[in-house]
Amino acid sequence: MVKRISAPDIAARKNGVPMVVLTAYTAPMAGLLDSHVDILLVGDSLGMVIYGFDSTIAVTLDMMINHGAAVVRGSRRALVVVDMPFGAYQESQEQAFRSCARVMQETGAQAVKLEGGVEMAQTIRFLVERGIPVMGHVGLMPQRVNTLGGYKYQGRSDSDAAQILADAQAVDDAGVFAMVIEGVKEEVARSITAQLRAPTIGIGASPACDGQVLVIDDMLGFNSGYVPGFVKRYAHMAEAVEQAVKTYGEEVRNRTFPSAEFCYPLKKS
Ligand code: KIV
Repeated sequence: MVKRISAPDIAARKNGVPMVVLTAYTAPMAGLLDSHVDILLVGDSLGMVIYGFDSTIAVTLDMMINHGAAVVRGSRRALVVVDMPFGAYQESQEQAFRSCARVMQETGAQAVKLEGGVEMAQTIRFLVERGIPVMGHVGLMPQRVNTLGGYKYQGRSDSDAAQILADAQAVDDAGVFAMVIEGVKEEVARSITAQLRAPTIGIGASPACDGQVLVIDDMLGFNSGYVPGFVKRYAHMAEAVEQAVKTYGEEVRNRTFPSAEFCYPLKKS
């Protein structure tokens, strides 16, 4: 029986071997990634990656619960963290608790992630004190795309950098077991990582973090549209899919598929 990594296990990884984190949204992909990562993040990036929205704003709690449950079913070892979607936690501590409790009960995931800094710290404390492990998310917060006016890297001015540090400090004090830092300069990520208790997981935030996360479809090259500059493509799946489908189409049209080995009685060796 494989023991699942827990939120306290992740908290204990500060300053250790960098943690490997990838997003996952489906059971089969979770199964492929499970033995290679420390955390499977069911990110609300699924709004873009799976549902074709142009931001995460339209993602609902029910979507997160359905995909969270699938990722838990498909994995055995990695910690599964489910993103709280826009509108499911910002209204009050009580609303946040009810939404997070649904996620934990209906998915079987071990933790949640939510975006926010100083203004969300009291809510995070409320959740943690009531048994919900919370991963923070500071720096570029994609759920604020409409107030930010786009996905711009954060902390350009000294005062913005100081605000991100204050946000990270506030969620650290509130008891997060780890935090994502997104879209900031190396010096900002370095100071947060050095000053805080919780391990930091960077995305577009330099190697100066305790771990790294990427969106699985971006790093596998499934996405043939816009990809942020910080993404390294480790495979080119869009091209592989296109080639396979093209070949299938040709073989159907010229009747070379299905050949005898794919017809009953099957003649495969
Ligand atoms: O939604 C997501 O996938 C995320 C990661 C990019 C950190 O929040």
